[in-house]
Amino acid sequence: DQPNLDYKIVLLGDSSVGKSSLVLRLCKGKFIENLEPTIGGSCVIQNIEIGEREVKLKIWDTAGQERFQSLTPLYYRGAKGALIVYDITNSGSYKRAKEWIRELIENGEQDAKIVLVGNKTDLETKVVEDITAQKFADKNGLEFFTTSAKTGEGVSQVFFALAQLLVGK
Ligand code: GTP
Ligand code: MG
Repeated sequence: DQPNLDYKIVLLGDSSVGKSSLVLRLCKGKFIENLEPTIGGSCVIQNIEIGEREVKLKIWDTAGQERFQSLTPLYYRGAKGALIVYDITNSGSYKRAKEWIRELIENGEQDAKIVLVGNKTDLETKVVEDITAQKFADKNGLEFFTTSAKTGEGVSQVFFALAQLLVGK
């Protein structure tokens, strides 16, 4: 028998970029137009198959609102993987994503796998160009994906990619 593989991962990013919506899409396959902001943080477990192996992800969804920021280190502590999410229609959220990446590299788990995610690709008012984010990701050795929690586009791919990085494949 192969050992169980389980990992804590964390989602970080500004309020309303769609972190909870990505988790809801992954775990429940649905989308809610007016989701309430997350208070503090919450955890869900999702199993993902990578080849022959089952990887158990303990997914911590954090609150992006400013008043919860002092709690966030508690959530990324021990996380072997992170999704740093921004909203492609909001340049401030992209700037904040880059700050989260810096903070994780400095204070997070050593060798934590970090994936940058540009969410809300279903919207036509994009202000952050993919090439900009891709270049930043390349320079920092991260993977970059775009998603829509609304349509589901790219969502399972992001979690699958992170699980693969964690397993080392
Ligand atoms: P906090 O919990 O405050 O940190 O926010 P969050 O990052 O969890 O955002 P949340 O998932 O609550 O989404 C905020 C709003 O954006 C909700 O009204 C969602 O319906 C909407 N939303 C999330 N993802 C998408 C998307 O891919 N496309 C569109 N059009 N709207 C989205
Ligand atoms: Mg949330």
